[in-house]
Amino acid sequence: MCGIVGYIGFRRADKVAVSALKRLEYRGYDSWGVAVKSNDEIKVYKRVGAIGDVSQFELCEGTISIGHTRWATHGKPSDVNAHPHTDCNGKIAVVHNGIISNFQKLRESLEREGHVFKSETDTEVIPHLIEKFIDSGLDFENAVKETLKHLKGSYAFVALSSTEDKLVACKYKSPLILGIGDNEYFVASDVPAILEYTNRVVYLHDGDTVVLTRDSYEIYKDGKKVNREVEIVPWSVEQAEKGGFEHFMLKEIHETPKVIEDTLLEYVSDEIELDVGFTAGISDVIFVACGTSYHASLIGKYLIEKLDEIPVRVEYASEFNYHNAPLSRSLVIGITQSGETADTLEALRKAQKFGARTLAITNVLGSSVTRIADVILYTRAGPEICVAATKTFIAQLIVLYVIALRLSLLSRSEVNEILADLKLLPEKVRAILDMEDYIRKIAEELANYENMMYIGRGLGYPIALEGALKMKEISYIHAEGYPAGELKHGPFALLGKQTPVVACVLRDETYDTMLGNIKEVKARNSPVVALTDENDSEAEKFVDYVIKVPSTNVLLTPVTYSVVLQLLAYYAARSRGCEIDKPRHLAKSVTVE
Ligand code: F6R
Repeated sequence: MCGIVGYIGFRRADKVAVSALKRLEYRGYDSWGVAVKSNDEIKVYKRVGAIGDVSQFELCEGTISIGHTRWATHGKPSDVNAHPHTDCNGKIAVVHNGIISNFQKLRESLEREGHVFKSETDTEVIPHLIEKFIDSGLDFENAVKETLKHLKGSYAFVALSSTEDKLVACKYKSPLILGIGDNEYFVASDVPAILEYTNRVVYLHDGDTVVLTRDSYEIYKDGKKVNREVEIVPWSVEQAEKGGFEHFMLKEIHETPKVIEDTLLEYVSDEIELDVGFTAGISDVIFVACGTSYHASLIGKYLIEKLDEIPVRVEYASEFNYHNAPLSRSLVIGITQSGETADTLEALRKAQKFGARTLAITNVLGSSVTRIADVILYTRAGPEICVAATKTFIAQLIVLYVIALRLSLLSRSEVNEILADLKLLPEKVRAILDMEDYIRKIAEELANYENMMYIGRGLGYPIALEGALKMKEISYIHAEGYPAGELKHGPFALLGKQTPVVACVLRDETYDTMLGNIKEVKARNSPVVALTDENDSEAEKFVDYVIKVPSTNVLLTPVTYSVVLQLLAYYAARSRGCEIDKPRHLAKSVTVE
C-alpha cells in the first residue's frame, strides 16, 4: 500500500503534489518523492522519512508533477528506493502502488539489453520498459500502453515524460481515481489527496488507462475509448481519509478481505511457495510476542502442533528475557506487526545468544526486527493507523496457516482442501461484514456492562483471549479471556447478571463440553453471547444472543470469529463514546521494555 498522485494544470505542481501526498500518508510513510516537468527536463526529489515532517517544499517551476508516499514492499526504505523511478536517461519518471510480480524476470531481460537499474524496487522496470518502447519508435502514450502488456501483478501507476505535456496513468487491482478540476486534472490513490482542489471524481476500473493533457482527459480500456461516470464526493477531507468510515479501526476491519488476498498472493499460487529451509534440523518451536501478536502465536502453536506434530511453546516476549537454557535446536519465531516492539526484539536477541535460529513475522519492511532475525516473513496488511491491531492480526494468522500447511504431515489433497478454504476466507469475511448491523445491536447491549468474560476451548481459547483484549483496550470494559474449563476453578465467583459472557463455540471435539460450560454459566445468571457455526442450531436454544458465523474449516475459525469479535469491541466502544483509534494510555509501537 502506497499513495500516488499526478497533476497537470496551471498551479505550482510541486506544491500540489506535496499537499496531496500529505493527505495520503495514511497509506505509507517510510519515504516520499516528487517529480516535476520543467521546460524539457524532469526534476526529481526523493527522500527517506515522512512527508508530514516537511513544512516548506519547492522543487522547481512547472505545472505537471507526479508524487509518491511509500510503504515499502520490495527494497528497504531508502532515498534510492523511494519513488519516482526513472529510465536510464531521466526522461521518463514513474510512481507506482502495487506489486509487479514478474519484475525479476523483466529486470534481468532489460539488464541484458543494457538498461542500468539504480534501485531494488519492482517499480523501476516500468520506466525502463517505457524507454525501451519509445526507443523502438512508439510515442510516449503508446509506449506506456505497450508496457502494460508485459506487467503481471497489481498496479496503479502514473508516468511522466520530459518531452510531452501529458500524464499517462494505469490501474489494475490497485486503487486509482481521476479528479476533474477547471482546466486541471489529478490522478490519485484516494479521494482525500485531491479534495482540496475538486470534488468531481471518476473511480477508474481495473484495466483502465487514462491520458491527461492540460485541457482534456481520455480513458481507454482494451484499446478502446470508454466513458466513465463523473461522481460528486460529499465528504470532508477528514472523512475521506477514512474512506467514509467513522474511524480507522472500522476501515481497517473492512480491509480484511483484501489483506487476506494480498498476504495469500505473497506465499501461495497453485501451491504454497515458501522455502522452509529455516526448519531443517529443528526439534521445537518457541514463539515470542506481545499482546495481539502473542494471541496469534497461541493459534500458531495449535496449528503447528496439530498439522506438523512439532512441539511448540509460546512465551510473552517480556518474560523470555529471563530464559536461561540452551536453544541450539530450537526455532524461535518473533511475531510483531510493527517490527519495533522492544520486548520482542530483545527476546529474539536473547534467543540468538542461546543458539536458536530466528524467524520474524512482521508487517513493516525495513523495521528493526528485519535487521535482527535470520529469516523474515512479511504480512501484507498495509499500514495500520488504529492503535488496536485488527487487519494485521488476521494477516499474521494467514502467514501461520501458510507455514503450518507447508510443514504439514497431511496428504497433498488434504492440504489442497485447506488451501481452497483459505482462498474462500475473503468471501466469508465479507459475509460477516454484511452482518455488521446485527453485531452492532448486541455490542450496544454489552456496552452497558463494566465486566465481561470471554471463554473458549482448544482453538477457541486464544480467540477468546484476543476478543477480550480488543474489548478492554478500546471500550475500557474490564474483559477477561478464560479457557472455558477454568471458570469453575475461581472465576465463577464473578458470574451473575452483571457479568456477560462471550462464548466461542467451535464445531470440533470441544463442542459438547463447551455447550455444557455455557449451561453452567447460564445457571449462574450471566447473559451469554455465543459465536457459533451458521449450521449449528443447538447453542441458540439456551443463550441470550447468538452470532452465527459463516461456516469454514474449523481450523480457520480464528479468522472469522476474530473479525466478529473486533466488530463487537468496536461497536461497544463507539456506543460508550470512547476515542477508538487512540485508546487512552496506549501507543501503536511499544519501543520500551
Ligand atoms: C492490541 C495491540 C497490541 C500489540 C502489541 C504488540 O490491539 O495492538 O497488543 O499487539 O503491542 O505489537 P507488535 O505486534 O507491533 O509487536
